[in-house]
Amino acid sequence: MLNDGGVVAIPTETVYGLACSIDRPEAIRRVFKLKRRPSDNPLIVHVHAVDQALELTASRDQNILRRLAEVFWPGPLTVVVSRSSKVSDLVSAGLDTVAIRMPAHPVALEILRGTQSPLAAPSANISGRPSPTRAQHVLDDFGDELMIIDGGACEHGLESTVVRVIGSECLILRQGALSADDLRHALPELFVRSANEADQRHRSPGTRYRHYAPKARVVICRSPEQVQDMLAENPAERAVVLTSAISVERNADLNARMVNAATLYDEFRRADALQVERIIVLCDDELSRNEALMNRLDKASESGGQSGDEAV
Ligand code: TXA
Ligand code: MG
Repeated sequence: MLNDGGVVAIPTETVYGLACSIDRPEAIRRVFKLKRRPSDNPLIVHVHAVDQALELTASRDQNILRRLAEVFWPGPLTVVVSRSSKVSDLVSAGLDTVAIRMPAHPVALEILRGTQSPLAAPSANISGRPSPTRAQHVLDDFGDELMIIDGGACEHGLESTVVRVIGSECLILRQGALSADDLRHALPELFVRSANEADQRHRSPGTRYRHYAPKARVVICRSPEQVQDMLAENPAERAVVLTSAISVERNADLNARMVNAATLYDEFRRADALQVERIIVLCDDELSRNEALMNRLDKASESGGQSGDEAV
């Protein structure tokens, strides 16, 4: 199907992807349309071999691509490089760069080995919904509009980390499954930092849009007492409390559900299905340690329940 220009949802170790051949313009357009994604937001290209990635990369960025690939691929690191002429404007949304990664999921790799070209694959959610971490989530968003390969629950459950290396600086454009410390330890020759407003030019276009948010309002609390107060203030509200396994056990009276990076989006989707109005997250030390998880929670709590720019 992929070789014929079809669109197929595939599992990866981060989240499910809506895959299509990078050489089939009509399939790429269908992906944008299915997702209702703004056409100025580029797609990630997935490969099964470093050579395949090098073909998509302009010569000036090939060394850095090799270096990052050697350490982190296959795995949840997406590398933004200057693109070669093999990458179409459709995939890169007109930018002169392309985002590439080699997924670690055995099914994704097998599919990539079997297709004639690399596969473009954004997360397999409709814009405005949390990324899918189970085949059922994809089914919930797209129904029987497309084929879904069920690879079980995603190992990481958060999207890949997106980086752009400029000189000796490694800019994190999107925090994700691979932590900044993992990057620092493995790449001592690079200065790793998160992109900020001043790096606007290099930022992921996707960060302009509302992200990772369920329909319910997300509120972050720092102590069990704060959670209790919030519940007491709004007794009529449909609320759910999420926290780490440790805090679930320690604070049995909160009736909280266990959450971690791998299950966050699943919990968001579950809350929406139950028409929960407020998701209260008790951020203890355990949850706070995970930067990417906190990043998604912060974004969800900033924008939860509001309309406006949509997630991608
Ligand atoms: O884990 C993942 O990365 C998943 C799985 C399926 O691989 N994919 C994913 O794709 O999250 P998507 O399209 O939902 O998010 C891609 C992000 C967007 O924020 C997009 O703006 C950014 O990567 N991006 C893509 N190409 C870029 C480029 N050339 N320069 C900067 N950012 C880019
Ligand atoms: Mg996405």
